[in-house]
Amino acid sequence: MRILNGTEMWNAVTLTEVMDAVEDAYAIHKSGRYTMPDRFCAARGGDLMLYMPCFLDSFIGTKMLAEFPDNPKKGFPYLSGLMILNEAETGQPAAVMDGGTLTAMRTGAVSGVALRYLAPEACTSAGLVGCGTQGLHQLLYACAVRPLTDLYLYDLHVPDPGPFCDRLREKLHACGINRGIRFHFCRDARSLAEQSEILISATQATDPVYPDDEALLKGKCLIAIGSWKPDRRELPDAVWKLCRFAYTELPYACEESGDLAIPLASGLLSPDRVRYMEDLIQDTKEGRPHEQADTRCFKSVGMGIFDARCAQLICEKARQKRIGAEIAWDS
Ligand SMILES: NC(=O)c1ccc[n+]([C@@H]2O[C@H](COP(=O)([O-])OP(=O)(O)OC[C@H]3O[C@@H](n4cnc5c(N)ncnc54)[C@H](O)[C@@H]3O)[C@@H](O)[C@H]2O)c1
Repeated sequence: MRILNGTEMWNAVTLTEVMDAVEDAYAIHKSGRYTMPDRFCAARGGDLMLYMPCFLDSFIGTKMLAEFPDNPKKGFPYLSGLMILNEAETGQPAAVMDGGTLTAMRTGAVSGVALRYLAPEACTSAGLVGCGTQGLHQLLYACAVRPLTDLYLYDLHVPDPGPFCDRLREKLHACGINRGIRFHFCRDARSLAEQSEILISATQATDPVYPDDEALLKGKCLIAIGSWKPDRRELPDAVWKLCRFAYTELPYACEESGDLAIPLASGLLSPDRVRYMEDLIQDTKEGRPHEQADTRCFKSVGMGIFDARCAQLICEKARQKRIGAEIAWDS
């Protein structure tokens, strides 16, 4: 069984390979060649344990994630966990890897794929609301898919985004993205949105992070990955007045995320305007692009199939490159 820490996982794969694995996960989801029960969530107070099994053809992936809201105050990450891969043929354990790294890597790649299909090719600016772990990886992949030169940052609770920028610069460099990128710290989400073509939110916000202002948000490409509970949202109503479609991963997102559940309940968003990223990808590849408005939006809640497919990629590449420790069971 192979054991991989976060650094080894990053050394095993490239950003493009992870995004291609995410596209493949969408194709597998569309084909139905998988078994993925609803994610099981165990809670004590505000602390959550999420268990996400998924059977693919060659591996079974089970991600176990701890979401502990008070962790950042204690100096620990908000999300942490483990990913376990078992051989699909025999059920034998194949690999264990860092679930926090896998989450950040694949969630960044999920947004990278959304930008591949939704963002204008020549975008040079992106704004990030929420300078945490996911946010950093969101920008990493955004820089890989669009020629971004200016990144705008805003966080309600981070007074000095300097360390965040240093970490992102290091990651960009390690991933071979060496163009001069300028960082701008914004006093609020309005000034961030005024200057950014792409808007990414990666927060635990309970209320919309942007002003409910159509003129401000018109023509933007919005990616919202945070606030996945039914009573929370990052996106204001204006988004649904401007977008033709709401792209997401699967129907369950409409129940799980307030970003979709709240406008669907109020009638602002109708069910026929909710579209799935897997269809956009396949239709675009087959020459049937969706008729879009100039404002576009992808809401992500994630799904276990992304974790399983990306972990499969990491495991196979790590085996080829002899990265990580191999341990033998003696049972
Ligand atoms: N869609 C997915 O697949 C997926 C995957 C992983 C995490 N998530 C979600 O992404 C979110 C962020 O996770 P993380 O691991 O980066 O957490 P984190 O704590 O590392 O970062 C979140 C950042 O958002 C900031 N923030 C919170 N509320 C804000 C607000 N109203 N305005 C501006 N900034 C605000 C916090 O100060 C923090 O710096 C969580 O809601 C998590 O559940 C989604």
